[in-house]
Amino acid sequence: MGDNGTGDEPQYDIGRQMVTARSRFPFDLVIMLGDNMYGGQSPSDFVKKFEQPYAPLLAAGVKFQACLGNHDRPENVNYKHYNMNGQRYYTFARGNVRFFALDSTQMDQRQVEWVDGALGDAKEDWKICYFHHPLYSNAARHGSSVDLRVLLEPIFVQRGVNVVFTGHDHVYERVKPQKGIYYFVTGSAGQLRRGNMRPNPDETAAYFDQDQSFMLVEIAGDEMYFETISRTGKTVDSGMARRQARTGWNRDASELAVARISRGTEDGRSRDGR
Ligand SMILES: [Fe+2]
Repeated sequence: MGDNGTGDEPQYDIGRQMVTARSRFPFDLVIMLGDNMYGGQSPSDFVKKFEQPYAPLLAAGVKFQACLGNHDRPENVNYKHYNMNGQRYYTFARGNVRFFALDSTQMDQRQVEWVDGALGDAKEDWKICYFHHPLYSNAARHGSSVDLRVLLEPIFVQRGVNVVFTGHDHVYERVKPQKGIYYFVTGSAGQLRRGNMRPNPDETAAYFDQDQSFMLVEIAGDEMYFETISRTGKTVDSGMARRQARTGWNRDASELAVARISRGTEDGRSRDGR
């Protein structure tokens, strides 16, 4: 989910739909795509704009893994329920999936080098990147972050990224695969820009801009099933994305891994941001 932290009633409605969805699909991980909180960010705001709307999920042990957006305070990397452990960008694995949470508000050279190396090191079948600003978006308000695309897309292609989730535009858009990569914009889990989509036939596979929404995602083997659910509980998009077959994109990854192991940095390298 993205762009959720308003503290307003639609955010709470989405929270309730997430709880309802969990009764039929017992997810235990939520990835947060930034703009996790708007306006004040004091301890009482964390209660009103995060802990209360998702209280049943937190109580059930669901783990949230955030990245930050342009409205989030940098120090929020230390908020315990975001599970960022003080890092602006980091990686973690679940089963055969490795996630890479990036900070697209400050995409400096050091971060670019880190994500290139971390993607190259990944052993999991799936590589999923998520961050706030979309490389592809056809909403009128922001649209594609072209500068960021120039920087990241060649790395994603080279390193075999499968799926990218972003927010920032307050709509839902499923983008047709771009250079073989699946892109989703899902930035309306609290905010909404109703009617803001300008679907582009070359890029837009599906969209929903009439109400708040969030996504359910399940990966089973080589298949990723997704379902986008509105504030009122309607399924507004669904489908399956098959893991891309690639050859040649990862030829130096094994060399990199060997080099890192020989330096004794295999443990902990992924969370220290280097
Ligand atoms: Fe944003």
